[in-house]
Amino acid sequence: MNKIAAVILAAGKGTRMKSDLHKVLHPIAGRPMLMHLMASVDALSPAKKVVVVGDKADQLRDALGSSAETVVQEPQLGTGHAVQQAEGALAGFDGDVLILYGDVPFVPSATMQAMIDRLNGVDAPAVVVLAFEPEDPTGYGRVIVEGGKIVKMVEQKDATDLEKAVKLSNSGLMAVKAADLFALLARVTDDNAQKEYYLTDIVNIANADGRACVAVATDPFDVAGINSRAQLAEMEGEWQARRRAQAMDDGATLTAPDTVWFSYDTAIGRDVLIEPNVFFGPGVSVADNVKIRANCHIEGTSIASGAEVGPFARLRPGTVLEEKTKIGNFVETKKAHLKKGAKANHLTYLGDAEIGAGANIGAGTITCNYDGYFKYKTVIGEGAFIGSNSALIAPVKIGRDAIVAAGSAVSRDVADGELRMVRAEQMVKPGWADRFHDAMTAKKAGR
Ligand code: UD1
Ligand code: CA
Repeated sequence: MNKIAAVILAAGKGTRMKSDLHKVLHPIAGRPMLMHLMASVDALSPAKKVVVVGDKADQLRDALGSSAETVVQEPQLGTGHAVQQAEGALAGFDGDVLILYGDVPFVPSATMQAMIDRLNGVDAPAVVVLAFEPEDPTGYGRVIVEGGKIVKMVEQKDATDLEKAVKLSNSGLMAVKAADLFALLARVTDDNAQKEYYLTDIVNIANADGRACVAVATDPFDVAGINSRAQLAEMEGEWQARRRAQAMDDGATLTAPDTVWFSYDTAIGRDVLIEPNVFFGPGVSVADNVKIRANCHIEGTSIASGAEVGPFARLRPGTVLEEKTKIGNFVETKKAHLKKGAKANHLTYLGDAEIGAGANIGAGTITCNYDGYFKYKTVIGEGAFIGSNSALIAPVKIGRDAIVAAGSAVSRDVADGELRMVRAEQMVKPGWADRFHDAMTAKKAGR
C-alpha cells in the first residue's frame, strides 16, 4: 500500500463568518470543524498531514498542536498556490497526496480511501477529483466529463453558458501522486477571470499531456462547505438529524428527537429514554436503561445503567453516576461521583464531592466547595443521610450511615454513625402566638 499525505487548505480569510475565530475552528457538534476532518484523515493512518495556514495562523497552530505540520501561504493567490506551499513539507514524500479543505469537514474516510483507490487504478489517472451534483451548482467549478474521463475543469466565473448548465461540480478535493502534483502545479498560471492560481488547472494541464483524469462522485452532504454562520447552523442541524436517527437505530427512545442535541462523542446505550429538550455537551457516555427526563444539560459525565436524571438537571464535567443513582430536578453537579444507588432528588449543588453508595442527599443541600481562592472536597460515606437545606463546608467528611440534621452548616468531619445537628436550640413558647394575635387585633381596632 502506498503512503498517504493529506494537505488541508485553510488559508482563506473566511470573511463571511465575520468572526475573530478562524472559520475552521467554529464547532459543529461540540468539536471544531477542522478536527472532524482531521479525525477522518487519521483513520487512513497518513504518513504526513500538512495544513496550509494564512489568516489567524496562530489559532490553527494552537488547535493542532503537534498533530499536524503547518505551512504559511502569504499572500493567498488561489487554491493551486495554496497546495504549492506544502511542497517543502512533502520533500522526499513519494506517495499519494489527498487535498482537502478545512471548511469541508464531513468527508468520510471511506470516501477519501475511494479516491486513493481510484488513483491507484489500472488506468493510472493523473488526478482524481471528488465531484458531486448539487441541486444548484451556481458558484462551484464544473467538472466536464466525457466517456468516463474529465475533459475540462472550469470555474463558474470562466464558464460558458453551456458549461454552466452542467451540474457535476468540483468539491475541491483531489487525490494526486506527489510525483505528479508539484510538477503539474509549477505549470499553473493565473490567466483567468479571478487572476488566481487554480488547483483545478492541474487537470487541464494533465489532459493536455494526454493523461487521463477522473471524477469520483459523492453525496453532497459529505462535501458541503461552510462559509457563513447560516451554513454553520444548517450543517449542525443536518449533523444532529443524522445523529438522532443513529441513536434511535441503536435502541434509544427520543420522545421529541428534534429537541435533543448531541456532541460528536456522545455515547448512548440501548433502552435509554431521552425526553424533550436535552443537550449533551462533549464527553458524555450513557449506559443502557438510563432515563433522562426533560430539560437537562449534560457534559463531561458518565452515567451508568439504571440511573435516572432530571427533569431539569445540570450535570457538569467530572460527574460520574454509578448504577441506579438518581439526580432530580434543579440539581447541579460538578466533579461529583455518586456511587451505586446514591440519590440527590431536589435543588442541590454537589461540587468536588464523593457520595457513598445508597447515600441520600436532602433537598437544598449545598457542598460549599470554594472559598473564593481554592476548591475543596466533600466526602460523604455510604448510607449517609444529609437533611434538607444543609451546607457542607469543604473540606469535610461525613461518615458511613451518619445523619446530618436538616438546616445544618457542617464544617467539621462527622464520624461514622454519628448524628450531627448544627442549629440553634429551639425556643418553645406555648400559647404565645394566640396572645400576640389577641393583643394586636385589639390594638388595631382601637380597643
Ligand atoms: C474552489 C474550487 C471550485 C470548487 C469549490 C468548492 C478552485 C480554483 N476552485 O472554489 O472548483 O467548486 O472550491 O467549494 O480550486 N484557500 C487557500 N488559499 C487560497 C485560496 C483558498 O487556502 O489562496 C482555501 C480556502 O481556505 C478554502 C479552500 O481553499 O478552504 C477553497 O477556497 P475557496 O475560495 O472557497 O474556493 P472557491 O473559489 O470557492
Ligand atoms: Ca468555497
